[in-house]
Amino acid sequence: MAETLVGSKTLLDIRDLKMYFPLTRGIVLQRVIGYVRAVDGISFTIEQGQTLGLVGESGSGKTTIGRTIVRLYKPTEGQIIFDNQDLAQMGGEHLREIRRRVQMVFQDPFASLNPRFTIGSLIAEPMHIYNIGSSSEIREKTSELLSVVGLRPEYINRYPHEFSGGQRQRIAVARALSINPEFIVLDEPVSALDVSVRAQVLNLLQRLQNQFNLTYLFVSHDLSVVRHVADRIAVMYLGRIVELADRDELYAAPKHPYTQALLSSIPIPDPQIEKRRHRIILSGDLPSSINIPSGCRFHTRCPMAQQICREVDPIFERKEGREHYAACHFSEEVRPV
Ligand SMILES: Nc1ncnc2c1ncn2[C@@H]1O[C@H](COP(=O)(O)OP(=O)(O)OP(=O)(O)O)[C@@H](O)[C@H]1O
Ligand code: SF4
Ligand SMILES: [Mg+2]
Repeated sequence: MAETLVGSKTLLDIRDLKMYFPLTRGIVLQRVIGYVRAVDGISFTIEQGQTLGLVGESGSGKTTIGRTIVRLYKPTEGQIIFDNQDLAQMGGEHLREIRRRVQMVFQDPFASLNPRFTIGSLIAEPMHIYNIGSSSEIREKTSELLSVVGLRPEYINRYPHEFSGGQRQRIAVARALSINPEFIVLDEPVSALDVSVRAQVLNLLQRLQNQFNLTYLFVSHDLSVVRHVADRIAVMYLGRIVELADRDELYAAPKHPYTQALLSSIPIPDPQIEKRRHRIILSGDLPSSINIPSGCRFHTRCPMAQQICREVDPIFERKEGREHYAACHFSEEVRPV
């Protein structure tokens, strides 16, 4: 986690972002019969040098947000303002230049590194694409990047299969860093790794953030992981952010029943406290992003739901406390866990 810088600037400003995937029927004349509303109107900002943790269960739309921000997808609606420029509808050379500054590291280090290339060429590839330096400069920078991520430069001619999951994730990070990005989406960067190496990779990411003044969007399905790395946390449910707050405030005083339920499922090492805790078990599965429930989209599983919740979609608005936002008609009744 980075220190809050005095006079820091907003690097990323996401405004009412939507990413819908069309559902089609028919082989020749494909008719659109509906939409997967994977990201359904999301707004947040990230200050330069800070980390926003994005948490939610599988299928809530976390990866889609990441992929949309780095413009692997063109958003259906909304703005992605990066360093005062809107990337949402940008194209051509302008987009190519901005893409250098925003990178993504994927969850599965086994799938994201092409097995036919040496790790040296994988790390160097983005530098070749962006024409950064001569061949000898690129080679030198590749060796340097290997040591920056804690790998031996002599490994440069080895292939991905010769490395463990943790080492591969270090290679993926070195590749992302090779073109000096300012912002990185880390999509569940440690979820596929053994518990024993997770802390090392998290420490590396934090060291790199401080060293290069990087800004992160850290995606995870696990609130206990983001607690260690995020300055602020956004909780996602079915394509929307339902709560956003400073990390400590979110844990101490949640304002949304979904956050409360997620927090109640994190085990506490003290057996005395653990025995007294009330665990909130949510009924049912996450509804489909094709048929989103009416009113508050969480009402089908919410233990606090009332009639109004089935009819009126609660506004995502500022609640008491500094920069604490939530979308719930009864947020003042949500208790800490
Ligand atoms: N390319 C696509 N085409 C159609 N639907 C998609 C596409 N990508 C994602 N979806 C759907 O959008 C929703 C959100 O998916 P997404 O992968 O963003 O969720 P996630 O929060 O990252 O989940 P996980 O924790 O499993 O990685 C899901 O219903 C998914 O099936
Ligand atoms: S608005 Fe109603 S259903 Fe939605 S989270 Fe709040 S109490 Fe639950
Ligand atoms: Mg995902």
